[in-house]
Amino acid sequence: MDKLIIQGGRPLRGVIPIQGSKNACLPIMAATLLAEAPCTLHGVPKLADIDALGVLLEELGVSVERRQRTLKLAVTDRSNCHARYELVRKMRASICVLGPLLARRGYARVSMPGGCAIGARPVDLHLRGLATLGAKIELDGGDVVARCQRLRGAEVFMGGPFGSTVLGTANVMMAAALAEGTTIIECAACEPEVEDLANFLNAMGARILGGGTPRIIIQGVESLSGCTHTVIPDRIEAGTFMCAAAITNGQVSLEPVRLDHLMAVVDRLRAVGVFVEKTATGVEIFSARQLVPADVTTQPYPGFPTDLQAQFMALTCLAEGNSVITEKIFPDRFLHVAELSRMGAQIRKEGPTAVVTGCKRLIGAPVMASDLRASAALVLAGLAAVGQTTVSRIYHLDRGYERIEERLCAVGADIQRVPDEVAIPQLAGAVA
Ligand code: EPZ
Repeated sequence: MDKLIIQGGRPLRGVIPIQGSKNACLPIMAATLLAEAPCTLHGVPKLADIDALGVLLEELGVSVERRQRTLKLAVTDRSNCHARYELVRKMRASICVLGPLLARRGYARVSMPGGCAIGARPVDLHLRGLATLGAKIELDGGDVVARCQRLRGAEVFMGGPFGSTVLGTANVMMAAALAEGTTIIECAACEPEVEDLANFLNAMGARILGGGTPRIIIQGVESLSGCTHTVIPDRIEAGTFMCAAAITNGQVSLEPVRLDHLMAVVDRLRAVGVFVEKTATGVEIFSARQLVPADVTTQPYPGFPTDLQAQFMALTCLAEGNSVITEKIFPDRFLHVAELSRMGAQIRKEGPTAVVTGCKRLIGAPVMASDLRASAALVLAGLAAVGQTTVSRIYHLDRGYERIEERLCAVGADIQRVPDEVAIPQLAGAVA
């Protein structure tokens, strides 16, 4: 396991290339289970989560071939329909093989994903949606077992207590693409990653209208062919680097970026006093002054994304005054609070809300990453802090950011990746 050692206080200057979206890529890779011919994906980031899904798809009979950022996926064997716990537990997004397996093979056994560091992560809405299309679903030994003849189109409602579900919408949309008749998904997740999946499925021959809106209409087809698709740029990676530029009082260009996917983030960055300008191929971020506080509430798209809450919190730690940060998607997604506090941040948490009182400076410290986006927030804090910050357990970061330290160093950061050798203290005379 590696750790990052960051010497803080260096403003970032330069251009950072943005990779394809992890969260668009994962369901799209799962959707290739539906295809009768090979699919080619361009813009696939080199990430641990992508590799993990690749391994699962191989177990499910898909040949997965990577050349740089291009993946070729072709179904070669449809006999194994079991997504095992050992693979699913490594990555919750594995649940999105459920809809495609069921729709194309009539049977799926997928280990029920557990909770994780960002809180309880139920899949009841996925299961309810697939049951509405006619699947018979039961739980057996920790696995979801789903069966059907051919799924039938229906009206499906995807809203839940914390808004629409992104991967739930993806699962139902993929399953409905091969169902008999028309499916209408109401209260569908509107995230750009869902729209990208709809575009991918349409390129395979699906008939989907309204991807990226709250009502998706799917006219089922008999079969889907292969296709070639380029994944959208990662809006969460772009938002993370925007916060990195802002927190170091730097000037950074990011490209390619779909700024229309980031309007809520741009709004909040401008609210704290950061300059954000659209460029021909992306965006430029510039900050050279004392930040002012701003409140932010995470919401489903097009609201402020929960996947940038931790990074924005790191930024507000240095704003002059109180910022109120409310988490409405994953109310327990605050593990970064304690670690930021170790660096001198003043944060008071009350339920799903954190009140951040800006401080003059953060101070470098050893901190521990707990999940992907919390880890990114700690790196940002380390970039701005006085002195040295060590971020341990960075395998979380490698799940979602490609070589983050190299890309930040290329624009002026001082970060080293070193093996994290944890020395376990022993009592004198103890036997190992
Ligand atoms: C996706 O997870 C993303 N993952 C997450 O990104 C992201 O945080 C999340 O959407 C919200 O934007 C991928 O795309 C791979 P949800 P997903 O179902 O789809 C509740 C990252 O850092 N809910 O939209 O699993 C749920 O508990 C990751 O890259 C139910 O109640 O999230 C949450 O409160 C982490 N029942 C809310 O809905 C369900 O059946 C939204 O979750 C499903 C979800």
